[in-house]
Amino acid sequence: MKIVIANDHAAVDMKMEIMTYLQELGHEVLNIGTDTADRCNYPEYGEKAARLVVSGEADCGVLICGTGVGISIAANKVKGIRAAVCSEPTTARLVKEHNNANMIAFGARIVGPEAAKAIIDAYLNAEFQGGRHAERVALIGAIEERECGADDRAV
Ligand code: RB5
Repeated sequence: MKIVIANDHAAVDMKMEIMTYLQELGHEVLNIGTDTADRCNYPEYGEKAARLVVSGEADCGVLICGTGVGISIAANKVKGIRAAVCSEPTTARLVKEHNNANMIAFGARIVGPEAAKAIIDAYLNAEFQGGRHAERVALIGAIEERECGADDRAV
């Protein structure tokens, strides 16, 4: 898969480790950055990564900041993004199976590298179950349409 990864200054070391892990699994990784410990603004990185997912240039995305929350909130402002913060593998599996999450997020200050890898594994190995879940995901899309209108679709 082609996977975009983005992070802020709180998660550089974690990003490097996860990027290597994804590459070892055979995935192509698009690294949005940041790659330095200089303080930066997570919304910029979350948005860039989200736009690559919505455009189809990436199949899915991994977002990492201190908690995983800020960068995922930013990504979720991009139409078509369903980014989910996970701190353990069961949630990571379910956000794919039920919510068809196209980005997964976690906090470098919340989980360690091994837990992060387990979260990634659970997410990547899961499949969207469709059916009643597809109807609910469509209802999420309908909220976006009412909020933004079709003309604002991110490309
Ligand atoms: C940065 O200090 C921190 O606020 C950020 O990484 C993230 O946790 C925000 O949600």
